[in-house]
Amino acid sequence: MPQNSTGSKHTDHDLRIASILRGRKISLKVDGKQVVAYEGETVHAALTAAGIRRLKGSRGIFCGMGICYECLVTIDHVPDQRACMTFVEDQMEIITDES
Ligand code: FES
Repeated sequence: MPQNSTGSKHTDHDLRIASILRGRKISLKVDGKQVVAYEGETVHAALTAAGIRRLKGSRGIFCGMGICYECLVTIDHVPDQRACMTFVEDQMEIITDES
């Protein structure tokens, strides 16, 4: 298994630290593609782990704590939801860019 610069093990398609205990594995649909997530993660965490960094044009996640509103996505047809403040749910549908 490859290691990143911090020595943490991860797969090519999942940037999570392998040794962390997680909730139940679930599935999201992000821009039409299936993405793995774990209960207890935020949408922000799941997107980042999947290598998705760009949201709504060129903006991306900045503060990670609900202040900047730079992480807006559409979740289950509700626009302008903060990815960093929303916990994932199984079969959640996320659109990162509608422009
Ligand atoms: S990253 Fe700042 S509000 Fe979500």
